[in-house]
Amino acid sequence: MSKPRVLVACAVFPQVLQRLREHFDVQAIAEGETWRQDEFTRRLVDQQGAFITGTHRIDASVLASNPQLRIVANMAVGYNNLDVAAMRAAGVVGTNTPDVLTETTADFGFALVMAAARRMLEAEKFLRAGLWKRWRYDMFAGSEVHGSTLGILGMGRIGRGIARRGAHGFGMKVIYHNRHRLDTDVEQACGARFVGLQELLAESDHLVLVLPYTSEAHHIIGAAELACMKPTATIVNIGRGGLIDENALVLALQAGRLAAAGLDVFEGEPRVNPALLTLPNVVLTPHIASATVPTRLAMADLAADNLIAFFEGRGALTPVF
Ligand code: GLV
Repeated sequence: MSKPRVLVACAVFPQVLQRLREHFDVQAIAEGETWRQDEFTRRLVDQQGAFITGTHRIDASVLASNPQLRIVANMAVGYNNLDVAAMRAAGVVGTNTPDVLTETTADFGFALVMAAARRMLEAEKFLRAGLWKRWRYDMFAGSEVHGSTLGILGMGRIGRGIARRGAHGFGMKVIYHNRHRLDTDVEQACGARFVGLQELLAESDHLVLVLPYTSEAHHIIGAAELACMKPTATIVNIGRGGLIDENALVLALQAGRLAAAGLDVFEGEPRVNPALLTLPNVVLTPHIASATVPTRLAMADLAADNLIAFFEGRGALTPVF
């Protein structure tokens, strides 16, 4: 019996690719190659399954030109690259990789808070440049992390992980805002208090964005919201670039209306707003919050398991709708 045809549109661990080849007739992207969206759409012709990351979009036009497609396994927890309504209408299953990356991503969110607030990268660059000639009391003096107020916008699994780290590890007062208030026992377990968005903005010393990116959440943090924050505050984004109006953020940082930022995601990534690159008080990383070897392997395995279970007739393990 012929195997189902699956397109692997992103680089993946060799052992995962091997496993996929055992179950499927695989067409995989070559090492070092990238497919733009039109090339991806063309490669999808005749494929019944796809293994992708957030780089590629599945929308009505992709679906219309690939009516044989039955499942798309997205190797990411966020799935704003999947047009869920169009997929549902076309009867195509979408899956993501929740849970396996929660703690690793929360670690990284917290690391960005630390790095931005304590000016770690600025200081590191200074040292490497040979500029360290003497000690000064105010050299790279940043803002306090322990005991300060941590604000979290988006209190899903990762947000709760960051809250626990702040409340229980760093003695922080943790406040959060979310579409829905969490149950009291969940709030207690992560030591967090629900507040309105205005209070979150006004009270946070460190604000972490970790909500899903949807059209309603586009630029949820813009000039008006930044203006409500403390000038000593830091802001961290590990959700999606479009949550922040980057131009407004640049202006706020340039004007000293915000102390620092830590960004792992960008509006037009992998392109980065050139103005951000000129700012010393921003820590910039290339969308790596879940990037540890065990976690990325677990994500790839889960995406593969979704395809395998689906084509074996057991149903996808982690469908997004
Ligand atoms: C990464 O951004 C993910 O959604 O997993």
